Amino acid sequence: MEAKIITIVGGGSTYTPGVVKAILSKKDTFSVKEIRAYDIDEQRQEDVAIIVREVVKSTCPECKFITTTDPKKAFTDSDFIFAQIRVGKYAMREKDEKIALKHGAVGQETCGCGGLAYGLRTIYPMVEILDYVEKYANPKHWILNYSNPAAIVALALKKLRPNARIINICDMPVAIMNTFADILKCDPHEIKPYYFGLNHFGWFTDVWVNGESRFEELRQHAIAHGYLDAALDEQHWEPSWVHTYGNVKLMMERFPKYLPNTYLQYYLLSQDVVDDANPEYTRANEVMDGREKTLFDAINHYKETGEYEDDMFVVGAHGTFIVDLAESLCKENGGRYLLIVKNEGAVADLPDDAMVEIPCYVSPSGIEKVSVGHIPTFYKGLIEQQYASEKCLVEGAIENSYDKVLQGFALNKTVKSSTQAKAILDEMIEANKEYWPELK
Ligand code: NAD
Ligand code: G6P
Ligand code: MN
Repeated sequence: MEAKIITIVGGGSTYTPGVVKAILSKKDTFSVKEIRAYDIDEQRQEDVAIIVREVVKSTCPECKFITTTDPKKAFTDSDFIFAQIRVGKYAMREKDEKIALKHGAVGQETCGCGGLAYGLRTIYPMVEILDYVEKYANPKHWILNYSNPAAIVALALKKLRPNARIINICDMPVAIMNTFADILKCDPHEIKPYYFGLNHFGWFTDVWVNGESRFEELRQHAIAHGYLDAALDEQHWEPSWVHTYGNVKLMMERFPKYLPNTYLQYYLLSQDVVDDANPEYTRANEVMDGREKTLFDAINHYKETGEYEDDMFVVGAHGTFIVDLAESLCKENGGRYLLIVKNEGAVADLPDDAMVEIPCYVSPSGIEKVSVGHIPTFYKGLIEQQYASEKCLVEGAIENSYDKVLQGFALNKTVKSSTQAKAILDEMIEANKEYWPELK
């Protein structure tokens, strides 16, 4: 395999050091000759690059690493584009969460009104990136996109750039499978998942390990403990994540058939989540005081002393998954992954153009979807409502339609009434003036 060029979009992301470490840790099987960091915030990217250069030096000094804000330099001949942008950064995430909560609705990065708001900010910057990539990159490139809200981004990009070579991905199911592996005392790579849904809105319907189903054990564990009483992964250990993993128990007591993605708490337990939230200190604050501060404290410490320790960031499911997937796209029988792909009949009861998260086999010829078949009415109903909410939002963005965006907000299961939807939307329009398409 020829050595690859990888461009990380959102080079200033808190995840960039971990992703670079994950790439270079695979150098024996996945050869990379150059990593480029691309961002629109030069200062943030240069700061993060201080740590990235140390990672390169200690893991694979022969790999070239550059930073740039110039799309031509970033994408020319690039083989893989790993996207992880946060449009509006944590300051806007904080507003998404706090505006929704102020009106009594779930305030979350990717779910409910916060996710819809973040979607409206992210669609067109992602279109711009796709166009740069189309213009400059290796024609056989792959864009692996983590940028949230991945469900909405995937739906919008499929509509606006249907031929783009993009695969939208999420690390949450991978992190959950790591927990399954701990419960079942097996290697995470041995887990074979059966799963359906939308991104941050899906269920495991079966889990096989070495030729036998271990689903019943996992179900009993989740009914008794949620996803707790097992090792937490490196990424999901803070108090709010522990609470989230614990909430799985409540969902399982009520809906014990399938194992839920943790993000379903925002829809199935929306009032509990609102009641448990602190409207003055949300997850955005926890991340700014945690993941972001830890990394930037280390950057500042390096600037002052020239010393660096590599325990201020993690590789986690996030870094491992994207690099495993990239490697799998380069080799025959690459592997089975949960990916966000166009439905086209894979889940029999859902619309063809829905972007579903389902198992897929990956190899150099691309993606082969695993057919899911029919799903029970309860799950179908929930998914259809969420899909309709996201679809109205995407159409609203494209058509500059206030009415359609309001429909998206009003349809969302986290929202109690159209009065609440309108109050939140109107306040979010003001907060997002700089970022949203105009809504008329
Ligand atoms: P962050 O704010 O630390 O980093 C994001 C970077 O993106 C910033 O440096 C910002 O300047 C840059 N950026 C914003 N708009 C850009 C544009 N148009 N072009 C290039 N760069 C741009 O955020 P983070 O917490 O590290 O998260 C990064 C992204 O990854 C977020 O969207 C987050 O939700 C997502 N994420 C997704 C998953 C998943 O499961 N899909 C998992 C983890 C993180
Ligand atoms: C999970 C999700 C991501 C999300 C990440 C971080 O892994 O799959 O989509 O961005 O958590 O969330 P946090 O609240 O810690 O920033
Ligand atoms: Mn995710």
